Amino acid sequence: MFWKKLLAKTKIGIDLGTSNTLVYVSGKGIKISEPSVVALRKTTNEVIAFGKDAKKMIGRTPPSIVAIKPLVNGVVSDFEATTWIFKIITQRFSSPFKTFLFVIAIPPEITEVQKKAVIDAAKNAGAAEVYLIVQNIASAIGANIDIEQAKGVLLVDVGGGTTDIGVISLGGLVLCKTIKIAGERFDEDIVNYARDQLKLVISTEMAEEAKISIFSLTNEDSGKNFTLKGRDVFSGLPKEVNITSSQIKEAVKDSIEIIVSNVKDIIEISPPEIISDILAQGIYLSGGGALIRNLCSELEKGTGLKVTLVENPLTSTIDGIGKVIENFNYYKKYLETL
Ligand SMILES: Nc1ncnc2c1ncn2[C@@H]1O[C@H](COP(=O)(O)OP(=O)(O)OP(=O)(O)O)[C@@H](O)[C@H]1O
Ligand SMILES: [Mg+2]
Repeated sequence: MFWKKLLAKTKIGIDLGTSNTLVYVSGKGIKISEPSVVALRKTTNEVIAFGKDAKKMIGRTPPSIVAIKPLVNGVVSDFEATTWIFKIITQRFSSPFKTFLFVIAIPPEITEVQKKAVIDAAKNAGAAEVYLIVQNIASAIGANIDIEQAKGVLLVDVGGGTTDIGVISLGGLVLCKTIKIAGERFDEDIVNYARDQLKLVISTEMAEEAKISIFSLTNEDSGKNFTLKGRDVFSGLPKEVNITSSQIKEAVKDSIEIIVSNVKDIIEISPPEIISDILAQGIYLSGGGALIRNLCSELEKGTGLKVTLVENPLTSTIDGIGKVIENFNYYKKYLETL
């Protein structure tokens, strides 16, 4: 394999999230932004769809096809499907006489074994060199937050599978905590609310659609109703029921409370010098899950601190990895490899 080291490398940045996979190609920018789902034909083990097309298949596949989300709560749970996603990337961006250098975002608290699984999957897919970067650090770089100063920065990334709460100072994580409550849990909360309060069985995809349509910071329709389509709990027959944004607020209330109390816990155990930095700068919020309507305000209420939503919450991690790739020698100090 030593010849691989001699070839020129295409640098590829990957934010393989629980919900979304984003890929940055050096010199070209973000080239893939798709849901982290692959659909495999079981008999031949071939990929038949990836991303949006595969996500549409969830819950609709015949027995011969499986639609898989390879990550659960930010970590690889299906090694083969993860390798497939990396293979789709290497196939799409391969060029003659070039090999690949991957920079992949990882959650702050993953184990060495979990890191190795990510690296092995990338190498199986053909990457010659693989580096890892902690998601909070990448997000902060992507959001142009100065993390090199001797000042503590509290960045909370609410993704799909996990909320990663990290205090960064001098370019490293001083404190961190990952909780398994984020955007996909909000969807489950809405599914449970619909079942218990509206007597309607709905899919998590329907719940996500309702959340983004009427309970999002980015959507004008917030405050309106959304028609949930599902099945009556008792009769099992198809039924439509309207849900309001205040009902969604009620559904996600407990999850938001848990996120807020965990952020408070991290602040409480921060060293006094860092607390004074956090008091001055407030909290930075990133990740797609942070776009839910009441999270910023509840976090402000619960902590008494200013909360700033980064400019591009859904892309800050890959934006940061992009900067790392384009200035590789400078940012190499933030990367890990095994
Ligand atoms: N406009 C929006 N309003 C509310 N939620 C949104 C919006 N857009 C996306 N989301 C939610 O953001 C979540 C995905 O966020 P993101 O892409 O940051 O997660 P991820 O990086 O895949 O996951 P993780 O970092 O936990 O592994 C999903 O749960 C999705 O429903
Ligand atoms: Mg993420």
